[in-house]
Amino acid sequence: MEKQEQRTLTGRKQLRGEITVPGDKSISHRALMFASLARGKSQISGLLQGEDCLATLGAFRSLGVQIDSEDSTRLCVHGVGLAGLQEPADIIDCGNSGTTMRLMSGILAAQPFFSVLTGDQYLRKRPMRRVVEPLSRMGARIWGRDGNNRAPLAIVGGSLTPIEYHSAIASAQVKSAVLLAGMQTQGMTTVYEPHLSRDHTERMLRYFGVPLESFSGGARVCGPVELEGRDLVVPGDISSAAFFLVAGLIVPDSELLLKNVGVNPTRSGIIDILRQMGGSIELLNEREQCGEPVADLLVKTSQLRGIDIGGELVPRAIDEFPVVSVAATFAEGVTHIRDAAELRVKETDRIEAVCTSLNRLGGQAEPLEDGMRITGTGHLHGGHVDSCGDHRIAMSMAIASLRAATEVAIDDTACTETSFPGFWELLNRSCRD
Ligand code: S3P
Repeated sequence: MEKQEQRTLTGRKQLRGEITVPGDKSISHRALMFASLARGKSQISGLLQGEDCLATLGAFRSLGVQIDSEDSTRLCVHGVGLAGLQEPADIIDCGNSGTTMRLMSGILAAQPFFSVLTGDQYLRKRPMRRVVEPLSRMGARIWGRDGNNRAPLAIVGGSLTPIEYHSAIASAQVKSAVLLAGMQTQGMTTVYEPHLSRDHTERMLRYFGVPLESFSGGARVCGPVELEGRDLVVPGDISSAAFFLVAGLIVPDSELLLKNVGVNPTRSGIIDILRQMGGSIELLNEREQCGEPVADLLVKTSQLRGIDIGGELVPRAIDEFPVVSVAATFAEGVTHIRDAAELRVKETDRIEAVCTSLNRLGGQAEPLEDGMRITGTGHLHGGHVDSCGDHRIAMSMAIASLRAATEVAIDDTACTETSFPGFWELLNRSCRD
């Protein structure tokens, strides 16, 4: 049974202080995966202990990898090498996590055993053909519901052939699935994408010693490869920081320092968007950590204005549009988001979910086929919304509530555990009134 939990929030006057957000979800998944596939031990610190990443952790334990929990964010993974995974005794439950299911498909398609991937009611509705199709072209044998498009996915692993793949969508999950399968073949696999999607797979495989090449428009890897165990520190998740960036901008008299946030350029579209809207966000103490750029972010209350968002900026901020829509509600003028049809196949249809919730609270958001048009009302009257089981909708509505005139009740908030354990406590602690 899915978990439910209603919360009621009221407007707040000020966010102040220094905060740290939990580890990056995308990087945490890859850290667990690549450390498991590497030979030797890897110690991972700063790992996100959200439900999505715990699904990946459970998957590798069921494939025979020993993973010791040292404390709440530190783990030791005893990597078994690419040839060391064992057939799982049961189906693998990916929970709500698209990243787990799609990347594991690429890994498991080349392994000499049978495996089945399933997920929760939301994940089982999401399209999987986008990975099944290129993997099948490489010789993978994968079956699923709805003409091999939906989980559960049954995989009869075996030897694959390299591929040159032109992806129609800028998706890091598709790119990663193909590269992870490709590195287990004999020869060169190349993935081209229309815009650069997040490149954590490329960066981290290099960090684990794989000679992977990135170029403008894609990446290539020549199999077979070997990964060597390495210690790794996961930076804070910019997608989680985004909620506090928007809160800091729209709540009067706020000044918040977000420490140790990943600012990889393929992920930092939210900073560009909010700055273009007139937001004051400073990057301090910029540094590199385990192949990923990291900084502290200082955000101050700002008067925002509406902008047009499309093109290459979209994949660089793909998970942030629910909270961008909240910023747009408190901006002057209209914000037009286009080229973002992918939002319809996220944890829920985020175009419909965002517009329905904002409109219920008194905002003005119009759904479009490939995005939305949000008119800055500068005001929300409050009301009752539903997260639709989507962690980012729940947290975005919590940020909207900070400026609402009356109470905002949000249904089904337990889903925030997917990516941001401790979100409600941190939000409460950052508010100084
Ligand atoms: C992710 C890629 C993105 C993103 C998701 C995490 C990843 O999905 O929305 O939250 O870790 O590779 P797509 O690849 O579907 O764009």
